[in-house]
Formats: sequence, structure tokens, C-alpha cells
Amino acid sequence: MSLSVFIAELDALASAAAQTFASAADAAALEAARVEFLGAKSGKLKDAQKGLGTVGKDDKPAAGKRFNEVKQAIEAAFAEAQTRLDASDAPVAAGPPFDPTQPGRRPRIGHLHPLTQTIEDLKEIMGRLGFSVAHGPEIEDERHNFEALNIPQAHPARDPLENFYLATAEKISGAPMLLRSQTSTVQIRVMENKKPPVRIISLGRVYRPDTADATHYPMFHQIEGLLIDKHVTMADLKSTLRMFASSYFGGEVHIRFRPSFFPFTEPSVEVDMQWNDRWIEMGGAGMVDPNVLRAVGYDPDEVSGFAFGLGVERVCARRHQVTDIR
Ligand code: PHE
Repeated sequence: MSLSVFIAELDALASAAAQTFASAADAAALEAARVEFLGAKSGKLKDAQKGLGTVGKDDKPAAGKRFNEVKQAIEAAFAEAQTRLDASDAPVAAGPPFDPTQPGRRPRIGHLHPLTQTIEDLKEIMGRLGFSVAHGPEIEDERHNFEALNIPQAHPARDPLENFYLATAEKISGAPMLLRSQTSTVQIRVMENKKPPVRIISLGRVYRPDTADATHYPMFHQIEGLLIDKHVTMADLKSTLRMFASSYFGGEVHIRFRPSFFPFTEPSVEVDMQWNDRWIEMGGAGMVDPNVLRAVGYDPDEVSGFAFGLGVERVCARRHQVTDIR
């Protein structure tokens, strides 16, 4: 090996070692770097030393001198890195002076309720599918909770024992009023005020005089979806629900429809979702009944649509593995 090649190799080794020592973030990294370069058996410096024997006889003194210089430089770089890491273990130097007149920083405690988080998630997911959020009142009249939804006077869902009728509200408004039993009320409120196409969701509290148990509570939350346009089909409903469920639960979620009945949809289905190999009932859905479209002044020959109503507690409990909604 020529002297110039030997020296070039030594210089490259010196700068590689310096860089590695300088960037070692902790004692373990520094020790690994020490073994790599200064290791007594197979360290890189040891390897380079072998080159010393291959330079010409006349060049030996110069080569040996250079080798010693590089060795010292590498050892110095190691020592410096060691000092740097030792210093960072030492107690942190005092920061800016403490100013007792500054207002304190309140530690953050708590978090949003899981249902609130779920509602925000569902809004976000449906928003991406083009659905905007609509709101409706929790105290409703019978037209929005029943009549416009094609639920006739004699229907069992209108039984006073199945609903929270509000005597005081009735006195004020002069007509029977109740806490809404479903978010389908918002479908009517939106369609009354807007020409098609419609693409909304509505999330909120609904009330039914159920006895509280693991899966029931007199107040719970629903997410209602409504899409009205030309040529809307059941396939649109199913693919919307599938995308929705896959986004919320993550991964591929299967949707199953079982025939059912709701006065405001025809045909009507119960919606099940398969997640982690289990089928879970999520709520109801269907194609908006022509009677409902007529009740809000839409022409059923012109437009069609789907609607769904899912239990927010159900999806939330499922995802967070809560088995009792209380
Ligand atoms: N409102 C129905 C319920 O509360 C659910 C539903 C909504 C069904 C929309 C069909 C369409 O059970």
C-alpha cells in the first residue's frame, strides 16, 4: 500500500469516528461506537494498523507518525463524547428565572365523553361522504314525530305509555308535545324546508320510557341519515352504510339487511354489522316511503331516497368494548 492511500484511509477513519461519537445519543450508543472504532480485537483502528505493515520501508516512519496522530484524535473524540453525555445526565441547568407573578398553567384533566367522541367521529365520517349535519328540537309535536312519518293515530308507537308526553309543553303550545322518540323527526324538518337533493345526518338525544338495563336507557342517541335525489336505490343505502361502518370500526365490515317494517320506509330493513366475527344490530333503515315524500311536498315519481337510524350507544359501546351502557 502506498503512503498516500494509507493516510487517506486513516483520515477517512478519523472523520467517521468523530462523527459517530458526536452523534451518539446515549451511553449505549457511545459504547457501541467505541467498540466499532477502538475495539481491541476487531475495531476499525486495529484494522487500519495492519496497513502499516504494507507501506514501503522508507515511508514507515511517516506512516507510523500519522497513525499515532489519528489514534489520539479518535480517542480524544471519544473522550469528548463521554464528557458530553455525562453532562446531560447531570441535573438540568436552571432555565429562565422563575416569575411568580405569571398565571399558572392548568394541567389538563379528563376528556370528552365517549359518546361525544363517537358523535364527532360519525359526523366526520359522514361529512366525508358528503352529508351535512342538521339539527332538530328534542321537544316535538306529533306531526314531526309521527304523522308526517306516516305513523297513524292508532299505531302502537303513539301509545302514551311508549312516549314521554309533556303536559306543560302542551299547555304552552296548545297541542300535544313530547320528547322526540326518534331522530327521524329531523328528516321531516329538513325536507319541509329544502328542495331535493338532500343529504343530511342528524345526531342527538331521543327518549323512550324503557327500563334501564345493559342495552336500554330512557334517553339515548341516534344518528339519522337521509339522502334524497333522483334514482337513489337500496344499493346506495347499503354501500353508504358499509363505508360508514368500515371507516368507524376500521377494516372490512360487512352489512346485513333483514326485512323489517317502519311506517316511513318501504321496503324497510334492520341493519346488522359484522365486526370481529359477530353480528351486531345497529338500527333500522329503508327507502323513504312515498307517503313521507308527499307529506313534505316532494314528488315520489321524481325523487327517491333512503333513510337510516342507528343507535350511537351501540356503535360506541361496541368499539370501546363496553358491555353495559349504564
Ligand atoms: N327511527 C327508527 C327507529 O328509531 C329507525 C329508522 C330510521 C328506520 C330511518 C328507518 C329509517 O327505530
